[in-house]
Amino acid sequence: KSSVLTDLFGRTHNYLRISITERCNLRCTYCMPEEGIDLTPKPELLTADEIVRLARIFVSQGVDKIRLTGGEPTVRKDIVELISRLNELKQIGLRHITITTNGVALHRKLPALREAGLDSLNISLDTRDPTKFANFTRRNGYKQVMKSIEEAFRLDFDPVKLNVVVMRGQNEDEIPTFVEMTHDDPLDIRFIEYMPFDGNKWNQSKLVPYREILKNLHSIYGDNLTALPLEKNHTAKGWKIEGYKGQFGFITSMTNSFCYACNRVRLMADGNLKVCLFGNSEVNLRDWLRQDDTTDRQLMNIIEDAIKRKKKAHAGLDVLSELPNRPMIKIGG
Ligand code: GTP
Ligand code: 5AD
Ligand code: SF4
Repeated sequence: KSSVLTDLFGRTHNYLRISITERCNLRCTYCMPEEGIDLTPKPELLTADEIVRLARIFVSQGVDKIRLTGGEPTVRKDIVELISRLNELKQIGLRHITITTNGVALHRKLPALREAGLDSLNISLDTRDPTKFANFTRRNGYKQVMKSIEEAFRLDFDPVKLNVVVMRGQNEDEIPTFVEMTHDDPLDIRFIEYMPFDGNKWNQSKLVPYREILKNLHSIYGDNLTALPLEKNHTAKGWKIEGYKGQFGFITSMTNSFCYACNRVRLMADGNLKVCLFGNSEVNLRDWLRQDDTTDRQLMNIIEDAIKRKKKAHAGLDVLSELPNRPMIKIGG
């Protein structure tokens, strides 16, 4: 078996995250600065052909799951076409196509995305209160997100995951409300520790640590709160309430990192490859792609070199907030 995607710590990268646009229809405070970001000029963004060529190379080397992110992936006009082209890679080993979306413009596109080969969905929703929604996102859209979640159930997407970024003083009081959503619906709700990125004004006092949330849930649910086994390449530590249909989990990048289980590599909209969410070493694949004589084999070698330079783990809470990185909106999570 090829080892192009295996790093020096034995981690095999079979999960490719592709950011397909830097644009977004929301302005979440934890993701981007108020004034917005400098967008990469369109000619410097990967075309659908370029994305599909790279995806094919990754799949040929063992990638079996592709997640489209952004910005907001549904604002890219050719997202349905892109997914149906990626869907053809299921003949050579791809097994799962998924997206991470804010859900605002999703509901109208969902049947077509389903038809094109989309297998599952992660939808961001930080609050059940429309007013607070506007504080988080600097825009309206709560009702549309709820409509998208309904539509996802109607179309039998499995799983439907919800992402909740927990920020002190803003939504930690809603955690039990979110947990109760798992009573009747087969949701997987992930509470995410607030992470630092360029321009998001991260501050440790706004981070609500995993242990603290768990302690509060223990006091509410007692022995009905049960830990689930860790999945192989987990980001989340899963839990459920006995008798509830869904489950929930915690993405503890800040207080309890899970880099040992990392199988993820990221392709940015501008064609840079990022081997770690918190690593600022990137390689430009776009310029190689655009040289007529670059072969797939050469691209594979460049990818392999990048993977072999991946660090064992991210730098830790103390260092991360000082480390220059992209704004989250340009990474896609
Ligand atoms: P699944 O593939 O469904 O497990 O989703 P995911 O958790 O990998 O992806 P999603 O896009 O839903 O991201 C949820 C949160 O996990 C976001 O805050 C991401 O930034 C974070 N996340 C995703 N991948 C990584 C990772 O490799 N490292 C760290 N530290 N956080 C990650
Ligand atoms: N910290 C934690 N999670 C974040 N996300 C975006 N920015 C941050 C941050 N600073 C989450 C979004 C989305 C996913 C891709 O990443 O909620 O669901
Ligand atoms: Fe992987 Fe980097 Fe995330 Fe750690 S911080 S899990 S190494 S992407």
